Amino acid sequence: MLAGKRILLIVGGGIAAFKALDLIRRLRERGATVTPVLTRAAEEFVTPLSASALSAQKVYRDLFSLTDEHEMGHIELSRAADLVVVAPATADLMAKMAGGHANDLASTLLMATDKRVLIAPAMNVRMWEHPAMQRNLATLQGDGILTVGPNEGDMACGEYGPGRMSEPLEIVAAVEAALADGPLKGKHIVVTSGPTHEPIDPVRYIANRSSGAQGTALARALAGMGAQVTFVTGPASVPPPGGVKVVKVETAQQMLEAVTSALPADAAIFAAAVADWRMASAQGEKIKKDGSGRPPVLEFTENPDILATVSQMPSGRPKLVVGFAAETETVIDHATAKRARKGCDWIVANDVSPETGIMGGTENAVTLITDTGADSWPRMSKEQVANRLANEIAAALG
Ligand code: CTP
Repeated sequence: MLAGKRILLIVGGGIAAFKALDLIRRLRERGATVTPVLTRAAEEFVTPLSASALSAQKVYRDLFSLTDEHEMGHIELSRAADLVVVAPATADLMAKMAGGHANDLASTLLMATDKRVLIAPAMNVRMWEHPAMQRNLATLQGDGILTVGPNEGDMACGEYGPGRMSEPLEIVAAVEAALADGPLKGKHIVVTSGPTHEPIDPVRYIANRSSGAQGTALARALAGMGAQVTFVTGPASVPPPGGVKVVKVETAQQMLEAVTSALPADAAIFAAAVADWRMASAQGEKIKKDGSGRPPVLEFTENPDILATVSQMPSGRPKLVVGFAAETETVIDHATAKRARKGCDWIVANDVSPETGIMGGTENAVTLITDTGADSWPRMSKEQVANRLANEIAAALG
């Protein structure tokens, strides 16, 4: 529920702007007050009148409107909200945000706000995949901007791929996660997720079958209980949750760096399936067959253990450090030994033998190992595991 919450909704100029009208309705149904801001381009797609009728609020449009400045200046407007939502966030608007421009009302509000900002990108697939766009996205995520979507699918322009704006209810869920009042409000939690990719040469890498589903579900559950989540993810096959700060990495070394720079945190949960090994020296050029029929010898070196590093930090260690243990035999014994070896507070152990279908699947059967012993939970969906674990974390952080 969003009762009493104030949302400043910046509508960018793209075909998905029509969905912003439904978004206004959905947010209001949940009790939020929505103040719309239309860019000039947005007015080509939706009218100020419809935005104002649906929101029952004045619609802001022009930076230099004297009445607006008299009634409520742009600084005040940018601060009066609990959350700033940009939907659709067009390539142009995102470029302006990444570059720190302030040459119209929307970009000025985004520069002036002291509140969290959630963007729902929407654009053509080629635009989304353009290196400039991906650079801007990385900058924005690094600045702590929250994202939701985009989804993959048919586009208004007739192409197919990622770039469709999230549906209004998905954006509502991300808004709720970003504004959640719950037992974890005020707590910062770092979650790692997904596999890591360790390059062999410019075209090949070592990976594993982790989908990132468990870490994603956990981040969503923690955010839903009010936590401010930094989600450090390797190249996962499920999209990251909305309403959390996403930091994308490829390798274990990058993941360690991202985690340490996200600290301090109240808790850190290590759900990523980190590669234990990387190439001793990744090749700068593609390794070629040499004609001898002999395969190349790949030499490995051990990756840093992120969980052990954070668990054993001499100062600034999060109050609660939770690891996962993916085992294929004598699960509880191995996981109990792993908890002691790494120095974490809890280990969530699961059996990833192929016949369980857990790795890459939708269900999980876990045993929570703490200093008081092992508690085996029945097999359930990864979402249910996440919700139950989030409750345990909330109880531990008190
Ligand atoms: N982990 C980590 N950094 C690594 C390896 C693992 O942070 N370099 C974390 C994982 O995110 C997980 C936990 O450590 O929370 C256990 O990972 P797992 O791969 O099961 O254990 P290993 O340490 O690899 O032990 P083993 O190879 O003996 O199974």
